[in-house]
Amino acid sequence: MQLKTDPTATTGPIGIFDSGFGGLTVMHQICELMPRYDYVYLGDNARAPYGTRSFELVHEFTLQAVRHLFSLGCPLVILACNTASAKALRTIQQRFLPQTDAWRRVLGVVRPTAEYVGEISKSRHVGVMATPGTVRSRTYELEIAKLFPDISVTGEACPMWVPLVENGEAASEGADYFVRQHIESLLHRDPLIDTVILGCTHYPLLLPKIRRYMPDHVTVLPQGEYVAHSLSDYLRRHPEMDCRLSTGATRRFLTTEQPDFFNESATMFLGEHVSAERILLEA
Ligand code: DGL
Repeated sequence: MQLKTDPTATTGPIGIFDSGFGGLTVMHQICELMPRYDYVYLGDNARAPYGTRSFELVHEFTLQAVRHLFSLGCPLVILACNTASAKALRTIQQRFLPQTDAWRRVLGVVRPTAEYVGEISKSRHVGVMATPGTVRSRTYELEIAKLFPDISVTGEACPMWVPLVENGEAASEGADYFVRQHIESLLHRDPLIDTVILGCTHYPLLLPKIRRYMPDHVTVLPQGEYVAHSLSDYLRRHPEMDCRLSTGATRRFLTTEQPDFFNESATMFLGEHVSAERILLEA
């Protein structure tokens, strides 16, 4: 006789997903704030960047990643990728979860970031620098409009920024050209902007250059900190989820690329030694 175990009665790690390395900037902040939980990070490096891919593909790849993290026992998955949050989160929450895993949760990074701009912007003009996919989806405009209808949002797509980071060129002289170009373009389109959201989890790696070219009166918001606080708040409000999370303070790293490639760059993102395992994501 086969004994059936109740999956909700066991505990598991928090899954963190990104197309590549970017989500590590979010993981870093989450682990700083909540070190006691177990975490599994999954980077789909073999298929990054997502930012220039179609809605359908980003949705398909994200769903594969979420399913994989569920198969490893994660009760909760954070899409630490704006592009995936913008293009796949709603469908996963509304269609996929209720049918297959109603007790698990998938959360994104757009809403937690949008919640903070209302307190910060005085001019009520906000810029969003993100991948072409995130900007085209208009997710930030829509989320901010729901919370703060008086804020005007201008999106700037920065297609070269992720490749610069993924290829280890974030600190190179070549990166200055692309960073400056998009900051100037954004502020030219709306000179009243006083707050800029870095709406891509890769961009904190470009912060030294972004700060160099951004005028002093503009506040730059990297989102890792906001996402971490929002998650901690979520777990306080949802004790039924909190008690399903395992607390051995372990970190596991998975990549769809060669682990050596991942380990080298992940160490740069996290500032600590990383040893990843390679996995295959299946349809
Ligand atoms: N880091 C991801 C984001 O936040 C996406 C980068 C990409 O794959 O294009 O949007």
